[in-house]
Amino acid sequence: MAGERAPDRDGPWTREPFDRVVRGDAIAVLDRLPAESVHLAITSPPYNVGIAYAGYADDRAHAEYLAWLARVWAALHRVLVPGGRFALNVAPTSIKEFRPIHHELAHDMRRLGYILRTEIIWYKQTMGRRTAWGSWRSPANPHIVPSWEYVLVFSKGSWRLDGDRAAIDITAKEFQSFSDGFWSIPPERRRRGHPAPFPSALIERLAKYYSYQGNVLLDMFGGTGTVAAVARSTGRHYLHIDSSAEYCELAVARIREAAPPRGTPPIPPPAGVTEAEGPVESAP
Ligand SMILES: C[S@@+](CC[C@H](N)C(=O)[O-])C[C@H]1O[C@@H](n2cnc3c(N)ncnc32)[C@H](O)[C@@H]1O
Repeated sequence: MAGERAPDRDGPWTREPFDRVVRGDAIAVLDRLPAESVHLAITSPPYNVGIAYAGYADDRAHAEYLAWLARVWAALHRVLVPGGRFALNVAPTSIKEFRPIHHELAHDMRRLGYILRTEIIWYKQTMGRRTAWGSWRSPANPHIVPSWEYVLVFSKGSWRLDGDRAAIDITAKEFQSFSDGFWSIPPERRRRGHPAPFPSALIERLAKYYSYQGNVLLDMFGGTGTVAAVARSTGRHYLHIDSSAEYCELAVARIREAAPPRGTPPIPPPAGVTEAEGPVESAP
């Protein structure tokens, strides 16, 4: 049942940390995972723009926010396999308070030793709803509306991630299409009670382009479970981490509904929400 707290299946949950929804602090949970155990991490962190998350204050001082995220990325580096990837979805901040946060994060990641492979433009096709013109039809002070987000893609140690050719599930047509770094994907319409889920189509592309079936996918700011649900439905193992019990419950239900593909070893549904011990650093 969703809502049930999962008893540890075999002693401490850290002995079998994958195919789980873990409620806890991103850094505290990452620090308890085995080294070199995750092939692809995909996440969208809180953007520090005052979004009303359950149990998280999204309005830190900017330097403090970047320092906190840098600690998350450092903890992730240890758990990625050599050649493991990290796809980081970030958005430009608001029009008037524009901060090139993707530059800052890319800089921090390189300082931590990650290879910056590329940057994908996720074009959200939201211009139809545009209202903030600035100075309408005048060069006095016109605004550019951010109708896109970035996905910065990093590797640990090596550009290559070797795997079993039989575990490749991307078609030639998809490969050709995804290799063009301008991805037109509408934003997620079904919010499931969360202010900022990303669309499954974005995650499916990243999963197929950057990982093999049977690999382990991780989202340390998992929200409604988009990454974990896509992992299960494409035949990949998952680890979902979020500090909110409410979002973890949503994720459990969603991952259970995700049907694994035919002909691949089944990926188990989560038994429930696993409680990680330790404080949640970001809790107000
Ligand atoms: C942008 S949302 C992620 C949404 C997700 N991509 C989805 O599709 O549903 C960021 C998430 O980070 C979580 N969060 C905030 N602080 C955290 C922390 N210290 N550790 C783990 N999760 C945290 C919030 O609860 C929120 O669900």
